[in-house]
Amino acid sequence: MSMFSAYRPRRLRRTEALRNMVRETKLSVDDFIYPLFVVHGQGVKKEIPSMPGNYHWSIDMLSAEAEEIAALGIPAVILFGLPAVKDEVGSENYDEQGIVQQAIQTIKEAASDLVVVTDVCMCEYTSHGHCGIVRDGYVQNDETLGYLAKAALSHAAAGADIVAPSGMIDGQVWAIREALDVNGYDNMAIMSYAAKYASSFYGPFRDAAQSPPEFGDRRSHQMDPANVREALREVALDIKEGADVVMVKPALPYLDIIRQVRDRFDYPVAAYNVSGEYSMVKAAAARGWLDERRVAMECLTSIKRAGADVIITYWAKDAARWLTPGER
Ligand code: PBG
Repeated sequence: MSMFSAYRPRRLRRTEALRNMVRETKLSVDDFIYPLFVVHGQGVKKEIPSMPGNYHWSIDMLSAEAEEIAALGIPAVILFGLPAVKDEVGSENYDEQGIVQQAIQTIKEAASDLVVVTDVCMCEYTSHGHCGIVRDGYVQNDETLGYLAKAALSHAAAGADIVAPSGMIDGQVWAIREALDVNGYDNMAIMSYAAKYASSFYGPFRDAAQSPPEFGDRRSHQMDPANVREALREVALDIKEGADVVMVKPALPYLDIIRQVRDRFDYPVAAYNVSGEYSMVKAAAARGWLDERRVAMECLTSIKRAGADVIITYWAKDAARWLTPGER
């Protein structure tokens, strides 16, 4: 008697057509959100050294970029702004004429169907680089909430579709939801960075957003990488406070968290394929050690397979091309 089973898994792996037919997870351009970094100035399209292929854009350069992103079929962008001046309370964060507020208007004029998501946090705007009001070396929780609500409101007024609070300040989703509703923005959605870890994979981004903390780190508010049950509590809280989409961040080292959140909650799940995940592959590919296209698509597929409905990724434009039949 043979030890073989009658079933031979290789039968369905024999040709590309067979493999396509039984593939369980299929990436689509609809899955992606593309991050954009906007800066003051004129004629700026400056590559971010630690994130090759990603740029700092000035407002006057943004229309063409938004049109290109929309033409690729990418449904959404998420905006990060570099202010002209940083201060203790991050004033430009809620300035009507702030860099992100201008960017929202410009993108909406150029490509009105493109969903505009804004990151709502203080770290890019504060002189000390922390995600809130700092006193006695500690990020003050409740005092920060009002500033986050003001920033979210100013993004809503400028025409954003979704605000994405990323500071891991307790109660931030509730504070923003309430401010939006009271001011007539009850249709504005919130995508909360619900389970955001104190990760070292944000290194290249802090270069891009010029937002490293001047002292200390973010471990008093972002999550300990060792915890999973706590992530589920965070997600439950944010849903209770009014989040429409819940995010896990980073993505690849936290696929188990994505899976558990997917299984436990019937809400859309976003995953942030962060800067370090991207730059590691870029660096290895530049040395000829990895095939960027294949590794990137494998990473994105893994994130989707783990349960993400939405993937924020610096590969969005490349992946959109790679997913187009006939493109190389
Ligand atoms: C906070 C924010 C960060 C990222 C997105 N929003 C940085 C941080 O928390 O320190 C990181 C994204 C990335 O690494 O790609 N505004």
